[in-house]
Amino acid sequence: MRCVMVYSKLEIIVFLLLSVSIHVRVSSIDDNYEQCENIVKNWASSSLDADIKGDKHELRDLLFFLHIPRTGGRTYLHCFLKKLYTNSQECPRSYDKLRFNPRKTNCRLLSTHDDYSLMSKFPKEKTSVVTILRNPVDRIFSTYEFSVEVAARFLIHPNLTSVARMAKRVRSKTSGVSTLDIWPWKYLVPWMREDLFARRDARKLKPDAYSVTNNPYDMEDILMPLHEYINSPIAKDIIHNGATFQITGLTNNSYFVDAHKIRHCVFKHQTLGAYVLKVAKKRLDGMLYIGLTENHRESATMFANVVGAQVISQHLASSSTDVASNDDSEQRSSLSDVQHVAKNQGIDAHQKLKNISSITQDEVGHGNLTVGKLVEAYESCTSNLRKTQAERRGNSLKRIAPANLTKEV
Ligand SMILES: *[C@@H]1O[C@H](CO)[C@@H](O)[C@H](O)[C@H]1NC(C)=O
Ligand SMILES: *[C@@H]1O[C@H](CO)[C@@H](O)[C@H](O)[C@H]1NC(C)=O
Ligand SMILES: *[C@@H]1O[C@H](CO)[C@@H](O)[C@H](O)[C@H]1NC(C)=O
Ligand SMILES: *[C@@H]1O[C@H](CO)[C@@H](O)[C@H](O)[C@H]1NC(C)=O
Ligand SMILES: *[C@@H]1O[C@H](CO)[C@@H](O)[C@H](O)[C@H]1NC(C)=O
Repeated sequence: MRCVMVYSKLEIIVFLLLSVSIHVRVSSIDDNYEQCENIVKNWASSSLDADIKGDKHELRDLLFFLHIPRTGGRTYLHCFLKKLYTNSQECPRSYDKLRFNPRKTNCRLLSTHDDYSLMSKFPKEKTSVVTILRNPVDRIFSTYEFSVEVAARFLIHPNLTSVARMAKRVRSKTSGVSTLDIWPWKYLVPWMREDLFARRDARKLKPDAYSVTNNPYDMEDILMPLHEYINSPIAKDIIHNGATFQITGLTNNSYFVDAHKIRHCVFKHQTLGAYVLKVAKKRLDGMLYIGLTENHRESATMFANVVGAQVISQHLASSSTDVASNDDSEQRSSLSDVQHVAKNQGIDAHQKLKNISSITQDEVGHGNLTVGKLVEAYESCTSNLRKTQAERRGNSLKRIAPANLTKEV
């Protein structure tokens, strides 16, 4: 069933990959079709050849959560993974960049927005990958809304100079990672933020003359309309096929040096997208688990039974030797850090998230957690998380009233 769901989802992704027309800045390299085909084909065949030995259904030493933005991965991280792994088992926080040598660390859980090319840094035969996919249209919608939500928080400032000054102050004080350090938000948020400030400045010049429509997604005097966002070069570069590129390790954040060449070729000659897709399917096939945002309940249940159960039995197997301490050091790869944006809101939300995800931490590693308990904890955790998120979102969107993005995707 997993495969059926995944492949029907992939058809949507293919459709997107082939139908989006992209005008990348033309560089002198590799524009020629034959050259491009060669480059892409070679990459694809070496990727397809690289088979990982062993049973892919078995949880290996390191669990790599390849977190595709706006798929609901945050609830998995806070409400499943953080209950399954102790803080000391989490790899150093790595949402913005890799802060440890994967071959020398014995951490068990890594969660990042990095792409699949990160795998080149790990011993493959010891790593299991999990991810969540979402209908690309909804994913893009949600990316827009989140860009607006995060950027709008900064409207408490009178101008961008003041934003920059605050950012500097916060950065020197906290060790948390800001959304603004993390791909793709490090590109999307500042872009949206500049745009929001510019539109607000323009309104100040004509306080009675700006117009407000009934459609919050098309209110150009207040914020960048959805269609403008979607059709921008930056969105085409990093959002449209973002999930496919993340799974194949071809984002513009890739560790793989040829990623840029290949992306360039695929944009230029879109039929070559078929190779990328083939690699994407193969990568998905090798994963331990794939969730689907749309089938949320089913996916969560499957996660608890497939991944959760194995993590629990791994703990049991090693509990005699495992002295898991619960120190809450700054070493964690914490998504609460991701949320750490505007100073005051940031710290409060940080604390709340910590509260939410630490509910059952005590039981981890003590032989007490069962799949049943995990699911229970997950459900109360997600409802708390949802409440917190809705609150933040509401507070943020107030700043761009009357544009109230109500789709909440
Ligand atoms: C930006 O806001 C700060 C704080 O209110 C103010 O002191 C400064 O003059 C403003 N800068 C510009 C360029 O408007
Ligand atoms: C990634 O894409 C963004 C948006 O198009 C761009 O600003 C940035 O320079 C790119 N980064 C790299 C490393 O190519
Ligand atoms: C987190 O939990 C502590 C102790 O239970 C409580 O005092 C604190 O108010 C909570 N913080 C938030 C932001 O919910
Ligand atoms: C389970 O938790 C209880 C306290 O909540 C504890 O007394 C008991 O020893 C634990 N059982 C195991 C097997 O660790
Ligand atoms: C935006 O819409 C939501 C849901 O429809 C509503 O609860 C909220 O009060 C609205 N916010 C504003 C600022 O109008």
